[in-house]
Amino acid sequence: MFFKPRLESLDASTSCKGSNPTQFSPIRRLVAVIILLSRFIIYPIFFSPLKRIPYAHPLAIFTPLWMDWRRFVGREVQTTNEAFKKYGPYVRLGPNEVAVNTIPGGITTVHGHGFENFDKTSWYDFFINYGTRNTFSALGKEHGSKRKRVTSVYAKSYIQNSRHVRAILAEMVQNRLLPAFWEMAASNAPHDILEINFAYGLDFVAAFIFGLSRSTNFLQDQVCRQVWLEEYRKSHPSEYMFWLLEHPRLIRVLAKFRIFVVPKWYHKADVDFDMWGTKLVDETEKFLQKGFTEEAASSGEMPHVYFQQKRAMAEELKLDKGAYFKPTPQQRLELASECLDHLVATRDTFGVAFSFVLLELSKHPYAQARLRAELRSIKTPVWYSPTSTGRISIANLPEPTVLEELPYLWAVLKESIRLRGTVPSPNPRITPSGTTTNLGPHKNIPPGVRISAFAWCLHRNEAVFPQPELWLPDRWLKCSSQELAEMEKWFWAFGSGSRQCLGRNVAMEIMRYALATIYTNFETSVVDDTGFNYNSFVTGSLGNRLMLKFTHVA
Ligand code: HEM
Repeated sequence: MFFKPRLESLDASTSCKGSNPTQFSPIRRLVAVIILLSRFIIYPIFFSPLKRIPYAHPLAIFTPLWMDWRRFVGREVQTTNEAFKKYGPYVRLGPNEVAVNTIPGGITTVHGHGFENFDKTSWYDFFINYGTRNTFSALGKEHGSKRKRVTSVYAKSYIQNSRHVRAILAEMVQNRLLPAFWEMAASNAPHDILEINFAYGLDFVAAFIFGLSRSTNFLQDQVCRQVWLEEYRKSHPSEYMFWLLEHPRLIRVLAKFRIFVVPKWYHKADVDFDMWGTKLVDETEKFLQKGFTEEAASSGEMPHVYFQQKRAMAEELKLDKGAYFKPTPQQRLELASECLDHLVATRDTFGVAFSFVLLELSKHPYAQARLRAELRSIKTPVWYSPTSTGRISIANLPEPTVLEELPYLWAVLKESIRLRGTVPSPNPRITPSGTTTNLGPHKNIPPGVRISAFAWCLHRNEAVFPQPELWLPDRWLKCSSQELAEMEKWFWAFGSGSRQCLGRNVAMEIMRYALATIYTNFETSVVDDTGFNYNSFVTGSLGNRLMLKFTHVA
């Protein structure tokens, strides 16, 4: 925009009939050099509205390629964290990109509260499924309406009071987790807990979306689990995520010239993965059409997310049949896009975050003992007792609120997620059009500037979390109420504002039940954590292993 008029005038004034168009006169060359210098050197240094924001690297003033390179080599978070340490909570990552590392004057402005979030960028287009946006990838007003459809079933009160959710939890704990851990302990050998945690998160969320009978059983079916995880790895390939997230248009343009940045197997896996999603949706739709009712359905069979979406769509369209209307082909894809995204969100976050919780506990036996004492002190502990037939049985699952109110359990979860369980993404947002933005001391930031923020960095603010690299659950318990409020304010693992994580209550709930299941009955110890990459936190380039040993504790 800044130089457009000059380019046009250049075309008009310097076009010379009869001259060889491929030869440039010295004046043309000089003008071209001046334009380039102004655009790429003088403007960024002297006139850019971002010029007063400290740059992470001198090249960041002139080109996005410097930060692109850091992203390409997987050093985005580390690079930004180092820049924050050197230059404070506002740094410039590129000519048109800023990163913030403060709640007041940063996150509160960009990620807001309520519905005042800045909009997302095209970075999220990767998460569009079937060409249809979902809550995670929707922009502008569309986001509000998509989120509204499903938000009620993800509320804590809903999750904690639904008999269907309780049945799903009972199935997970009694029939899937306990036998698996029992066998692991009996084998006296190390096991990869990361894979088990992927399976647990996916099994629960799939059952929550579609109902138990139509969901996955990755905890028990190891072959299916490994096939699925491999398919997922190919359709979300960490080695190509830089291109897919940051430069989707470039991938498409290069493909026209037969330059394929992303290999063909990715596209095939993507299609296969999408087909798997529509299969689950179609089976659930058949189940509804057969006359399902929430009250009459056996426990665990309620397809919460699918049903609720359809109910909300019917209300929007004023359809008499409620959730039982037959979806059009486009509605079917809309439903599938949302459901599949929740499974992707689970795979991308839960397994790794929860593995970090288990890793920290495994490294701290005193913390396990303290947690075990607390878990055994409740009215109905999650004891197991193998019966004569070798089956595991538990009389009662503890009430959700009983587990939620256990202080040490809560502190262990908070601290583990603070330290490691955060997504490594920059959560990019864009400054809104038609106005300027103030970020703390930096005023008049124009529209269209990308703003990044990382929970990893926010959680390392020494003023709020002293000795931030240490795992100290007691920091959440032995503190004043002001200190606690400050820590809560800076805890950003699930984002904030209207785009805060939809699944956070589910994630916390199922982590509590799994911790109660494990630490009431077993001790865990680290056998090999070298495959569990400390530097790539949640998604990153994991695909690795975390080898823990389980030992039964009478
Ligand atoms: C420990 C586990 C989890 C962590 C750390 C986590 C973290 C996050 C974060 C940071 C965001 C905001 C992302 C952004 O704005 O770019 C987010 C959004 C979201 N999460 Fe999670 N998540 C977790 C588990 C889950 C689960 C289990 C589900 C699904 C059942 C889920 C569904 C979603 C959805 C749908 C959004 C988009 C919300 C919106 O844009 O309105 N998440 N999550």
